[in-house]
Amino acid sequence: MSNMPSLHSSERPPRKPRVAVVFGGRSSEHAISVLTAGAVLRAIDRAKYDVLPIGITTDGRWALTADDPERMAIANRALPSVDQLAESPDGSVVLPVDPASREVVYTEPGAVPKALGEVDVVFPVLHGPYGEDGTLQGLLELSGVPYVGAGVLASAVGMDKEYMKRVFTSFGLPVGPYEVIRPREWEHDPAAARERVVEFAAEHGWPVFVKPARAGSSMGISKVDDISGLEEAMAEARRHDPKVIVEALLSGREIECGVLEFEDGPRASVPAWIPPVTAHDFYDFEAKYIDSAEGVVPAPLTAEETAEVQRLAIAAFEAASCEGLVRADFFLTDEGEFVINEINTMPGFTPISMYPRMWQESGVSYPELIDRLLQAALRRSTGLR
Ligand SMILES: Nc1ncnc2c1ncn2[C@@H]1O[C@H](COP(=O)(O)OP(=O)(O)O)[C@@H](O)[C@H]1O
Ligand SMILES: [Mg+2]
Repeated sequence: MSNMPSLHSSERPPRKPRVAVVFGGRSSEHAISVLTAGAVLRAIDRAKYDVLPIGITTDGRWALTADDPERMAIANRALPSVDQLAESPDGSVVLPVDPASREVVYTEPGAVPKALGEVDVVFPVLHGPYGEDGTLQGLLELSGVPYVGAGVLASAVGMDKEYMKRVFTSFGLPVGPYEVIRPREWEHDPAAARERVVEFAAEHGWPVFVKPARAGSSMGISKVDDISGLEEAMAEARRHDPKVIVEALLSGREIECGVLEFEDGPRASVPAWIPPVTAHDFYDFEAKYIDSAEGVVPAPLTAEETAEVQRLAIAAFEAASCEGLVRADFFLTDEGEFVINEINTMPGFTPISMYPRMWQESGVSYPELIDRLLQAALRRSTGLR
């Protein structure tokens, strides 16, 4: 038969691993994800990897998008979106829930589905709910495709500020005082919730921070000076998540530390100090992403403080069963104690973001960081591990 495979086919160079860069998404951090994907697409080593960009629209449709990083940038202070980048208004990329195949399919209403080829690894460049919270990770587990970063449980723990604190506490990591206001309580007995906040503030002082339990990039967070500000802060937080967390103010310096999985296990980066941002009330969305607040790397800490925060960052990575990477954020109180504020399983990841900058300063360039994350993902399987 003339179309028999060549006897020499085994001598062909092996196919390059194909990376699906998945970005955008339904969370309020959509635009930041697009910016990050632009940087990742620019930095991925094309000699080593094939790339398939998949944008998720704000409605949750998986759209085929051009491999065009130039369009994934801030232009005149306007943020990019997948909806602008999508090649068609109603085509969908589908990753079949079939662990036997890694074939990605493209469908359009009324058209024959088109095979887009196999994907070997997914890089979910997604922040917040439906991306960083374990839901996408669950889909990828079902589909049998390895992916960069935390698995289902660690992603969910890292997204939920209540369970994150509970896990850290049980592993002996220091967390600040907090109260949780659950949806049912606020909807049926807001007076009791208000009373709890008054008692909490009587013990820990005003102001308190009111936050959506599962959000990010400071979205929905308010600093509340007295009980009269609670109503508005609750409404603002609940625009992002019906579950709300109230925290005592932690004074001191904000210190961040990156953790990256190497062949021999997780290692911590040099830490960074995030100085207070004067033009903003706290380290908020505008400060972080539009003005790109300047963190100081390495943080001006003693050798002992640096070693301590690195130890705690790795302990946080292990406590939450993270994989690949995590950024652990701390306060160094005026008493010299580190308190963990949160972890981010998919931290800001543009080249000027803190996580890549901390690794840059630790001797790992942005392209090397991406390569290490992809290699760590390709080394492991899906499923229980
Ligand atoms: N308890 C707190 N005390 C003092 N500042 C806080 C506190 N919680 C949050 N902040 C400030 O708000 C920022 C965002 O809060 P964070 O908990 O990190 O939420 P996000 O998940 O949105 O990043 C922090 O980086 C810090 O500047
Ligand atoms: Mg934060």
